[in-house]
Amino acid sequence: MAGLGTAFLALMWWRLSQFQEREENQLEFRHNANIPLGVSYFGKYYLYRDEKTVHAFSTTCTHAGCRIGKANAGFLQCSCHGSEFDAKTGKPVKGPAIKPLQELDCYFDKLSGQWVVKLHPIKNES
Ligand code: FES
Repeated sequence: MAGLGTAFLALMWWRLSQFQEREENQLEFRHNANIPLGVSYFGKYYLYRDEKTVHAFSTTCTHAGCRIGKANAGFLQCSCHGSEFDAKTGKPVKGPAIKPLQELDCYFDKLSGQWVVKLHPIKNES
């Protein structure tokens, strides 16, 4: 009986680790159309919705790679060394970071009626 319990626990642990690995490697996220105005924070990225559209930015600080925190009055702050970024543009307003946050590929999928965010930079048209 103890062996059966151990096998069950091992199976549950394996399934949980598989789920966590999928979450870590997920490169595409979908959101319903009713994203609120301003900043919505999702860990690896955040969305900024204005009157016209939605923008997605990475939350990886461009100074040394820390995850930046949630927005406060339209600005995102990195707790590692204090850089601040304008949530609307991703541009730094206070150092030591000098590069803007990476803008991510984000578009509205008319078929599903959802916003799609891909965790890779937007493509330049040059
Ligand atoms: S890693 Fe963000 S300010 Fe240094």
